[in-house]
Amino acid sequence: MCGIIAVTGKRASVEVLTSGLHRLEYRGYDSAGVVVHDRGGGFSRYRAAGGTKSLVTLDKEASAHVGEIYAGIGHTRWATHGAPTLFNAHPHLDCNERVAIVHNGIVENYRALKEELLAKGHVFSSETDTEVIAHLIEVELRGGATLTQAVASVASRMRGAMSFVVASVDEPGVLVGFKRMAPMVLGTDGESWFLASDIPAILDRASTFFHVDDEHVLTVGPDGATMADLSLTPVPLVEFHVSWTLESAERSGFDDFMSKEIFEQPAALRDTLAGRLDADRSLMLDVTTFDADELARINKVFIVACGTSYHAGMVAKYAIEHWTKLPVELDISSEFRYRDPVVDERTLVVAVSQSGETLDTLAALHEAKNLGAQTLAVCNVVGSSMARLADAVLYTRAGPEVGVAATKTHTAQIGALMMLALELARVRGYLYPQEVAELYGQLQEIPAHMDEALKLWDTLADLARKHSGISRFYFIGRHVGYPVALEGALKLKEISYLPAEGYPAGELKHGPIAMLDENAVVFVIATRTRLHEKLLANVEEVRARGSEVVLIGNPIDAGVARAGESFVGVPQVHPLFAPMVDVIPLQMFAYHTARGMGYDVDRPRNLAKTVTVE
Ligand code: AGP
Repeated sequence: MCGIIAVTGKRASVEVLTSGLHRLEYRGYDSAGVVVHDRGGGFSRYRAAGGTKSLVTLDKEASAHVGEIYAGIGHTRWATHGAPTLFNAHPHLDCNERVAIVHNGIVENYRALKEELLAKGHVFSSETDTEVIAHLIEVELRGGATLTQAVASVASRMRGAMSFVVASVDEPGVLVGFKRMAPMVLGTDGESWFLASDIPAILDRASTFFHVDDEHVLTVGPDGATMADLSLTPVPLVEFHVSWTLESAERSGFDDFMSKEIFEQPAALRDTLAGRLDADRSLMLDVTTFDADELARINKVFIVACGTSYHAGMVAKYAIEHWTKLPVELDISSEFRYRDPVVDERTLVVAVSQSGETLDTLAALHEAKNLGAQTLAVCNVVGSSMARLADAVLYTRAGPEVGVAATKTHTAQIGALMMLALELARVRGYLYPQEVAELYGQLQEIPAHMDEALKLWDTLADLARKHSGISRFYFIGRHVGYPVALEGALKLKEISYLPAEGYPAGELKHGPIAMLDENAVVFVIATRTRLHEKLLANVEEVRARGSEVVLIGNPIDAGVARAGESFVGVPQVHPLFAPMVDVIPLQMFAYHTARGMGYDVDRPRNLAKTVTVE
């Protein structure tokens, strides 16, 4: 949600900023802008509004006019405060145009701060909350503070999660960043320093990466980078390893990132599962402060997540309860911390998140820690805020996911959570080691089954064409087919903007069936589970209302499709692993439908890849 990039040093250039913004575009694309501190001694600002075209306009403008620079900051916006207009586009300046800022997040108390500043005669040129930060820093600088001192002082006055980077014309080449529960990473190639909201933005520039800590101020300039807490006590920078390659963050011949990432799913799952068991078959977490004995003492699991990650968590609930007999609660992160969850030191709270930065889930993780729970993050971004906060981490190794609609990280999350479920079963003694080994073996075969499911690409393209006039879709399933149904509906909504709802098939008769008629298409997740027959009875209820049925099933059940109905055959696997295979045709259906409607699947309207506001 909003992307920030900044550069200073020998290789600072406007191109570093604009190319980085292109890679950050998935975080928001309402408008874009840069401010560069040019060798003439002042700031030059270039901004453009207009959705996905803004960056192209910015490229032409800024690249044509800017020569050598000391430093620069750039931003791609997902609008919160103020419409996506040119005036609200970042970077924002203070009254005298001596301070420039790019910001991600929300200044929750900005109204009070703005009133205070207006009363002192400050003039605002945007409707954003961000601009108050520029004016507050202006006040501090006028009082004699350095940029670093000004940021430390102003940071403690603001409420809310945010990260920002500021520059001042009075300190050429110096950039100061601040981070609070919003992403920011520092990198260097030895000659220049880069600050960005995410690793891919600087993957082609930096060779060494450092964590930026919450509630810390980072000062980057010609002499290097230093970090300090808000009392300006220095804190050492901690390096971390990034294994992602530049190629993994490129489209590599695919039309878009979403199709590339759909096809990367078998490899992403293979990597996530590879080399995870030690000699005595225990699961090796990537980071952990608790051991198997502590894990065995857990008496409840609480999963918190949002969106697609929530659907992966829902699959895990079925598996953990089945294999471990532990009670599992599942919560949408934004609900968790506001409803007095019953959590104590014997609860394992599992935060599931691709980015590791989703503010709602991060806040839930904080809450879980405050309540004394053991915490585990399942996330894809190494060194992300959740990975740094949780007591233990299990990384999905899906590589960078750029498409806003999550695909490969979803199936990798389910794979990671299945390993967790099996580990809990092992340490609690609910499964014999041989049973765990046997299930692991089946899990490791899932990527090959996914490869089979991916061969349905053209079948789903045909199906999308067949249903191109339909304006209402329903997705139903039972047991683990239910989260698959929810995910199928979410994918279709996200990128094609068509009304699509996911329901537990058994719940249809309690209300939603009223909406069914001959104008609706109902996708049924009909792969084999122990509720298969009951599910087929629910399908009869749908047929009786005249809606068209599409069955996602195992080839042995092809005969259950009636004349005129569509049957999409996917490989039969262990029922608890089936969501990783069954979801693939639904992703492909959403993809082909959206492409057929002429939409940009990588940049769906109103959405940002990483949601860092509440
Ligand atoms: C998925 O297609 C969506 N973009 C969205 O629901 C996403 O899963 C959600 O915002 C959670 O993100 P996270 O996994 O990075 O926490």
